Amino acid sequence: MASHSSRIAALFLWALLGTAAADALSPGAHGFIGYGITYFAPVCAHSCSASLYVPLNCTTDDLAVLPQYRRKRDEAAEPAKPVYPSGDGWEVTNLPTTTCQSRNEFYLQTLAYCLKTHCDAQSVGDIEKWWEAELTKLPDGTGPRPYSEVLVGITEKPARPINATEPLNFTALVPEEVYHSHYVDVHGGATNEMRNSQYSLIIVVSGAVIPILMSLLRFLPWPASWVTKFHAYFIDPPLFGSKHSTPIWGLGIMPTRGQAVFVAYLWILNIVLACVGYENNSGSSYDTLSNTIKRNIANRTGVLCYALVPLVILYAGRNNFLLWLTNWSHTTFLLVHRWLAFICMMHAVLHSLVYLNIAVTSEGWEDEFTLPYWYWGCGGTIGFVVLVIKSIPAIRQRIYEIFLVAHIVIVALVIVASYKHVIIKYSEAFGFQNWLWMACVIWGFDRLVRMGRWLRHGFKRAYFTPIDEDYYRLDIPGVSADGHVYLHFPTISTWRFWENHPFSVAAVTYQAGASAPSTPIISAEKEKQVEANTAAIGSSSATDTDTDSDSVTSQRDTGIALFIRGHSGLTKSLAAKGFQPGGIPVFVEGSYNHRATFLQEDIPEPSHDFPNLLCIAGGVGITGVLPALDRFNTAGKPLGTKKLFWGSRTWPLVREVERMRGVDGGVDQSGLSERRWGDVDVTLYVGNRMDLTGLLKKELRQQVGGTVVVTCGPSTMVDEVRCAVSALARHNENGKPVVVKMMVESFTW
Ligand SMILES: Cc1cc2nc3c(=O)[nH]c(=O)nc-3n(C[C@H](O)[C@H](O)[C@H](O)COP(=O)(O)OP(=O)(O)OC[C@H]3O[C@@H](n4cnc5c(N)ncnc54)[C@H](O)[C@@H]3O)c2cc1C
Ligand SMILES: *[C@@H]1O[C@H](CO)[C@@H](O)[C@H](O)[C@H]1NC(C)=O
Ligand SMILES: *[C@@H]1O[C@H](CO)[C@@H](O)[C@H](O)[C@H]1NC(C)=O
Ligand SMILES: *[C@@H]1O[C@H](CO)[C@@H](O)[C@H](O)[C@H]1NC(C)=O
Repeated sequence: MASHSSRIAALFLWALLGTAAADALSPGAHGFIGYGITYFAPVCAHSCSASLYVPLNCTTDDLAVLPQYRRKRDEAAEPAKPVYPSGDGWEVTNLPTTTCQSRNEFYLQTLAYCLKTHCDAQSVGDIEKWWEAELTKLPDGTGPRPYSEVLVGITEKPARPINATEPLNFTALVPEEVYHSHYVDVHGGATNEMRNSQYSLIIVVSGAVIPILMSLLRFLPWPASWVTKFHAYFIDPPLFGSKHSTPIWGLGIMPTRGQAVFVAYLWILNIVLACVGYENNSGSSYDTLSNTIKRNIANRTGVLCYALVPLVILYAGRNNFLLWLTNWSHTTFLLVHRWLAFICMMHAVLHSLVYLNIAVTSEGWEDEFTLPYWYWGCGGTIGFVVLVIKSIPAIRQRIYEIFLVAHIVIVALVIVASYKHVIIKYSEAFGFQNWLWMACVIWGFDRLVRMGRWLRHGFKRAYFTPIDEDYYRLDIPGVSADGHVYLHFPTISTWRFWENHPFSVAAVTYQAGASAPSTPIISAEKEKQVEANTAAIGSSSATDTDTDSDSVTSQRDTGIALFIRGHSGLTKSLAAKGFQPGGIPVFVEGSYNHRATFLQEDIPEPSHDFPNLLCIAGGVGITGVLPALDRFNTAGKPLGTKKLFWGSRTWPLVREVERMRGVDGGVDQSGLSERRWGDVDVTLYVGNRMDLTGLLKKELRQQVGGTVVVTCGPSTMVDEVRCAVSALARHNENGKPVVVKMMVESFTW
């Protein structure tokens, strides 16, 4: 328990460090608007300065200091503007620079008087601070004159109101209605931006915290029969139909009911938070009301899109803290990753379409299309769309190698484009870029840990042994691992060196060190010896001690054995390469197992409520259930039963697995064979199909006490098991409930 809590502490430290790193890395403002970054605060002060767009007499030098504050389209929106006087080295303009404003005594006095009359609620200190930030130092390094000093200079109450067309060559009064119309705008703008970050945080935080809370619910003392029923109705079955692991029409996979609830939550939350909480007042005549509404929606969806990026990347990670803190599977997070990525793309598209609509329907936007922020933004949105389209399973599986590189490259490009988009438009002041930095930290962390995991084992060699035309075995000496590992084969083919695939470790093997690495570990004359030295993973306590050496040593060398089914991609290239005397170079990334997690339950243990284990494996899926068979230790608990039903197309795979486990059951010509592997009752179906529904009904109904069902195999098979188990659990027979817990080890990802 001590190590448990220290691990949790370490994790939180990691999370904190990550956040700190994200914050430190971000060069601009830290935090988000309303959370560390102020925006239009105080509103009264910003309303005063917004009211003061009046012509000023500026020197040409002052006008050259900074780009003009207002842009072309604001100019265009203005009514026919009078021609203002200008002279040698000076010019009266209604587009003054901050430098010009900071030098102009009339401007300063008018502003100061407005602040004095409208900002009663603010302390003088706050206004001083705002004043300094709003105005600027003059080129000679002096000024701006402090607020209180300027205020003292106003001897009598200004009487003349400002006039938008007259040069400000007197101390003016900001009329109440002018101030008010700007106040409405500024207040609305500030509120909208605050809500944008507030809602973003709600989505991101709840997206991470809800899975953790849901996982913790399991530790409450619910009766096992309730849990069974709840899972059978609300969690395990597919939302509609009978397919979950099998893609539907090559378009996507049907979520389970539990997954659907969370996906629905994310959809509803995103739609609601994109629709509510706007302050759509259009106070000044700056823009039409319909444009104001459109802009507010576009800004909201834009910010939400940015905020979702780190969460989308977090869900996809192999090394993410949600996998460690929840009992949700990687498959579930990948499913949520895809849905949330789709939502994120929708936000980006909506944002872009609404701004496009504003641009084509309003005057003065022609230049916008050529501005850098605009085309970076377009690039980002197009990137999002491409990412989603090419992730459709039909496309992804057909061109997996291209999909993989493209995914990484396009995500990187989208992040860069999105970064440029906001930096060019707003500099770093508003913190939108911080979402992207967060995403980079999360992604970088996953990549670093992945690299750490394969560097830990170093460069290894895999030895190939064919089993039959479908299956082969890979032995990788010098590695110890359990659970599953990702294999990288840098030399397998030009186009696949970046690919890596997950495989379950079928066994840890022990090899007397004398074997030269140049001979396959399962060479014929050594077979006997390997057999004797091969132990199933569960029974070895030494699995974690690394003996990372390829050299010939006298000590025992551990290794791992994998059983692989040849598909059409990398697994086929491997089979085509076949047996290589020197082995195939490989990097082993792993292991990914239950020990890396706190709440995952991928290895069941017998308990009072669940004393029985029922494993159902299809083909090479046997590797996914072996750990469960080995760990489910019923010694001293004679009540429980341990059964394995395994369907395999041919005998060689069965023989290979049995040999590895040190049993010799022989070949049964009937194709149906019952045998015992140690304390496990095994029923083999070789070459004929299991009647899954029938056997589950028989097994689960007759069981005393609860049963853990572990299944792994082809997607159609695991789908059938999923639906059959849920159906049995839902309906009592003769008033006797079936108490069952289901674990589906998925080979799809
Ligand atoms: C945890 C885990 C353990 C596994 N253990 C084993 C094992 O012990 N033995 C074994 O034979 N297989 C195992 N698999 C399956 C194995 O990873 C795949 O069979 C292998 O990746 C197929 O490679 P391929 O290129 O030959 O496939 P192809 O048939 O060419 O398939 C095309 C590509 O699509 C990818 N792909 C397939 N399904 C998906 C999907 N749903 N989402 C994204 N990409 C997908 C594959 O990686 C593949 O490269 C395991 C899978 C997982 C997730
Ligand atoms: C503007 O200021 C300059 C001095 O900087 C002055 O010479 C000029 O007369 C002023 N113009 C007006 C219209 O006040
Ligand atoms: C502003 O000044 C112009 C003359 O420059 C005048 O015609 C107009 O009435 C003034 N407007 C207000 C609101 O005082
Ligand atoms: C201010 O400028 C106007 C011209 O826009 C001029 O008529 C007026 O005399 C000036 N007043 C002062 C005080 O300079």
